[in-house]
Amino acid sequence: AIDIDQLRALTGAITIDPGYKNSGSCKSEITFLDGEEGILRYRGYSIEELAEKADFLEVSYLLIFGELPTQSQLDKFEKDIRKYTLVNEEMKSIIDGFPKTAHPMGVLASLTSALTAFNPKSVNPHNEKEMYEAVCKTMAKFLVIATWTYRKSMGYPLNYYDNTKGYVQNFMHLMYELPTGPYKIDPIVVNALDKLFILHADHEQNCSTSTVRIVGSSHAGLFASISAGVSALWGPLHGGANQAVLEMLEEIHKNGGDVDKYVLKAKDKDDPFRLMGFGHRVYKNFDPRAKIIKKAADDVLGALGIEDPLLDIAKKLEKVALEDDYFKSRNLYPNVDFYSGIIYRALGIPTEMFTVMFAIGRLPGWIAQWKEMRVNKEPIGRPRQVYVGSPLRDFVPVEKR
Ligand code: ACO
Repeated sequence: AIDIDQLRALTGAITIDPGYKNSGSCKSEITFLDGEEGILRYRGYSIEELAEKADFLEVSYLLIFGELPTQSQLDKFEKDIRKYTLVNEEMKSIIDGFPKTAHPMGVLASLTSALTAFNPKSVNPHNEKEMYEAVCKTMAKFLVIATWTYRKSMGYPLNYYDNTKGYVQNFMHLMYELPTGPYKIDPIVVNALDKLFILHADHEQNCSTSTVRIVGSSHAGLFASISAGVSALWGPLHGGANQAVLEMLEEIHKNGGDVDKYVLKAKDKDDPFRLMGFGHRVYKNFDPRAKIIKKAADDVLGALGIEDPLLDIAKKLEKVALEDDYFKSRNLYPNVDFYSGIIYRALGIPTEMFTVMFAIGRLPGWIAQWKEMRVNKEPIGRPRQVYVGSPLRDFVPVEKR
């Protein structure tokens, strides 16, 4: 028998697969996804059950360490995260350098990378203890700096983690607590955020996760790898879609709510417009996360007593698109981002922060995938190519060109 590397060496054969539509880059024990059947499981547990019964830290532990934690493991994890929630004061001078109008995702990517400078020991853990410390540090500091991107954009003083509160509660505290008075954290909001973060927590080898793994494969370290993941997530074809969906729904609303017009526009091949929040590389039947989020949007808006015309527009748009031959024949269904923005909006989260919300949710998945890659001692990621440029030519001096 001859293995694939030997075959390649003998024949020079290279498979071309733009967008890696059909190429596996690794073996993984973290997330199971069946795009035809619309199944998503973390470490064997169904996403529906986790979203219903677990909280975000429990799911983070499950993804990163492989098993659901016992109560004492969970308490220890939470306590260990708290040890690292202080972010170096000098990081503030970096934030000060950004204009207030900077997109929070750009600021987040830079700050995550900058964490490397202040935590050099966590960059490249060499044993289990250092690995655990790096995991806890990242969970702690990323949440704080993610909220600082919002505080910066608002011109508010930066907040510190409150060790008497839970992880998701702290997100609300860090974002909204002001020196002018105490901020009451609504349990309905915490519950909705737990669910949203869980639904975003991992999705096997998507664009940002593959980026985290490939950057990490050069042993660039955890913060640098996560920072690259944030940049990959930012794009509107990936995590940036949640912001784009809401902007699209707002535009439809402003223009009289004519959803048919936008469906037509999305089908027009001469028009670059796409129905944001529709379609998925892997789900060709339905996105199970979208089903849960659609119901959560109804529940959360109901519980908070909010009537949002954008939710009605989204539902109308979904109905029209799902009955349309263009969308049907291409298996285009609402994805996770289609309804999430409506919930974020109901929770008072500004549109520009939507992709940051996705990043906070995706963090444990990125960490788990990076850790798996390092523990398995995977080789450096290095795709090949087929060269189609010019053959050898003679150099022409500048005066003769
Ligand atoms: N609106 C209109 N047409 C679409 C859409 C859409 N949202 N999505 C795909 N199509 C069409 C394409 O034009 C193409 O048509 P063609 O066969 O006539 O050329 C066909 O459907 C297949 O689309 P591809 O772009 O080849 O599919 P791919 O798997 O590469 O892309 C993607 C998937 C990027 C998600 C795409 O569906 C898209 O751009 N959707 C909108 C952005 C979005 O919602 N992104 C979030 C994805 S989920 C996530 O990252 C969390």
